[in-house]
Amino acid sequence: MPLSKKQFGVLSNGEDVSLYLLESGEFKASWCDYGASWLSFIMPDKHGVKDDVLLGFSTFPPYAAKHPYFGATVGRVANRIAGSKFILDGKEYKLFANDGKNHLHGGRQGLGRSLWHGEMDVIDGDPALRFSLFSADGEEGYPGNLSIAVTIILSRNGELSISYEAESDRRTPLNLTNHAYFNLLGEGAGTIANHELRLHCSHYLPVDSSLIPLPGKPADVAGTAFDFRKPKLMGSDIGQGFSGYDHCFVIDALDVREPFAIVSEKTRGRQLSVSTTSPAVQFYTGNFLDGIIGKGGSVYGKHSGFCLETQYYPDSPNRPDFQSCLVEPGKKWHHGTKYEFSIL
Ligand code: GLA
Repeated sequence: MPLSKKQFGVLSNGEDVSLYLLESGEFKASWCDYGASWLSFIMPDKHGVKDDVLLGFSTFPPYAAKHPYFGATVGRVANRIAGSKFILDGKEYKLFANDGKNHLHGGRQGLGRSLWHGEMDVIDGDPALRFSLFSADGEEGYPGNLSIAVTIILSRNGELSISYEAESDRRTPLNLTNHAYFNLLGEGAGTIANHELRLHCSHYLPVDSSLIPLPGKPADVAGTAFDFRKPKLMGSDIGQGFSGYDHCFVIDALDVREPFAIVSEKTRGRQLSVSTTSPAVQFYTGNFLDGIIGKGGSVYGKHSGFCLETQYYPDSPNRPDFQSCLVEPGKKWHHGTKYEFSIL
């Protein structure tokens, strides 16, 4: 069966949480309707040994508790909004501060801790899922009645694509991404320091101590630790006072089908290439992971996984100089990201 569904858990209000399994060729992915969360990705290495390359939990209860957004679809506005407020069309909107004074990944509950409606499908012969959600005007402080759909397709050559679509009856900011943590050695098998990364990104956003972008233009990566234009190990510049990456990189103008990021891990021979329609990516090296217990008792310490969260620039709703992330009423908002896993 290339596509199946089973019960994964029950919420405190009695609603069932389901787990969906997609299989295509040598690849298996699982997702859950709570948070439209990507739970696992199982693939062979160059010797045919299969591992799960996503960090997460084996059971549902820790997903319902506070966790580092493992695999969640985060929003309405992913990343940070400075001072937990923004002004739109002359009106100030106040949001929940859940990261010091700032608003992070949609606030108190956000889309990543909401139960979505899941449907299974087959698209061009490939197993697919569609998660949909209605977020009412005023939810988490954001304006507009918003309908969102996330479609996931797994192809037999190891490509997992995620498409995001939304519509609103009022202008409202929206920045959706998936917060999967990857480790191409297999989850729980060590740090990502020896993963090689190539990023088609010539600029990044310098940030203040609360990770809010500083005023001014994106900075040139040349001559800095942020230069991944030639393949470099993720861990090369970490240490000596630099605890790791948690920064927004601006994606150079590319054909959307061309990967902006290529990550490879030579000992197991696995590669992940990512392409997107989004203008930027938050490259995060799991700096805040502090020994949380994951799948099968794995311990996830600092740098146990990396995220490539495709998105608009952080704090866009407060930055007229950044590309607008607004949904306009009557217009479909659409973005997509493809994760292509391969064996070297
Ligand atoms: C994002 C943020 C990080 C951190 C993680 C979740 O990647 O940029 O600072 O909050 O989510 O722990």
